[in-house]
Amino acid sequence: MSAEKILNLDLGSRRAAAVARGVSTATPLFAARASNAEIWDSEGRRYIDFAGGIGVLATGHRHPRVMSAVRDQLEHFTHTAFQVMAYEPYVRLAERLNAVAPFKGPARSLLLTTGAEAVENAVKIARVATGRSAVISFSGAFHGRTQLTLSLTGKLMPYKRGLTGGVQDVFRIPFPVEHRSVSVGQSLAALDALFHADIEPAQVAAIIIEPVQGEGGFHVAPPQLLRGLRALCSRHGIVLIADEIQSGFARTGRLFAIEHSGVEPDLVTVAKALAGGFPLAGVIGRASIMDCVEPGGLGGTYGGSPVGCAAALAVLDIIEEEGLLERAEIIGGAIRAHLARIAGAEQTVPIANLRGLGAMLAFDVVKDAASREPDGAGARAVAARALERGLIVLTCGAHGETLRILVPLTIQYELLEHGLAMLEQALRLPLRRS
Ligand SMILES: Cc1ncc(COP(=O)(O)O)c(C=O)c1O
Repeated sequence: MSAEKILNLDLGSRRAAAVARGVSTATPLFAARASNAEIWDSEGRRYIDFAGGIGVLATGHRHPRVMSAVRDQLEHFTHTAFQVMAYEPYVRLAERLNAVAPFKGPARSLLLTTGAEAVENAVKIARVATGRSAVISFSGAFHGRTQLTLSLTGKLMPYKRGLTGGVQDVFRIPFPVEHRSVSVGQSLAALDALFHADIEPAQVAAIIIEPVQGEGGFHVAPPQLLRGLRALCSRHGIVLIADEIQSGFARTGRLFAIEHSGVEPDLVTVAKALAGGFPLAGVIGRASIMDCVEPGGLGGTYGGSPVGCAAALAVLDIIEEEGLLERAEIIGGAIRAHLARIAGAEQTVPIANLRGLGAMLAFDVVKDAASREPDGAGARAVAARALERGLIVLTCGAHGETLRILVPLTIQYELLEHGLAMLEQALRLPLRRS
């Protein structure tokens, strides 16, 4: 590899002239190389990565086992299109996903390329299986950037601005968030009101929910809500879709976040951490629902790429063999302890609402401890200060007020502590001069 250093600023100018403005990037940096939880930019500066490619790198950058599985696959074939000639890694991955599906009974899997595509297909399958068209999603939800997934997404800025022509038959109810005073009772009451005002349950194909909201702010769906939705879906023949694209594959200390609630969904959408940095997504579902679609109705040229499948099979091995479920809990505990200490410290940016499951954790930057009013500009300033110190951390939430941690679960503990110390420095208020 060439050791030539290129200025981020120069690459930034070329990017501005060549890349569509609508694609934004959280940092002004350009990547040169990466390993586990560290990433080096084009100028050779090292960063600790608490973003993990937006939750993709649960097994870290370039895990040796993933790299070796991919290399081996590259030596055999890179593409056939599963519709032209099938291959064993796709079948083996489907078998393994079916075996770990968070519901009892026979399962089937469909492999795709991106998260939005997985959500599109889950909705399509639910529509075919029920013969109905309406879909219900939640405020603050993020399900993707394609037209259908955007209409399921419950956040206008920046995702939906300028897109007024919506896909029909999507309804939204409030996601319960304790610190915003939205209770489970209110969410379920809104659903009941929807059924009286706008749409009968018998016209609803699916309800889609993130067991832990990702882009919306790492709000955990209370088990009581999931149980309520399960009961209602079973009563009315509605398909319950768990979108585990951000929360899945060990991040929360379970393979799927919904397992924390004991509720069994009908379909599960997966992507991101599934393939350790390679583009792969899927829908895992009850066989009785999945198999309603006629042959040819599902698929895509690149869906279930053999390279992605090889990577995903290695990821599943790593999760088991490196104890990543337990590691997620240990990492989550360390982050919680550190943040609890920071929260009480003087001369620190006011933070509140630490939340999440396992290592899927976030907190808000607020204007002051008493009002807890969200401070998006404050959170952005903290992320920028962290970057100056060498830590990549992302914001999210309704007002961008949330700092979320999506660190690789394979991070060395010393590096985690080092990253948390950088976060602490970034949260320290600049000392006022007298
Ligand atoms: C919960 C959830 N669903 C769907 C998506 C869309 O996935 P993709 O960006 O791969 O299309 C995301 C991406 O962040 C997500 O977090």
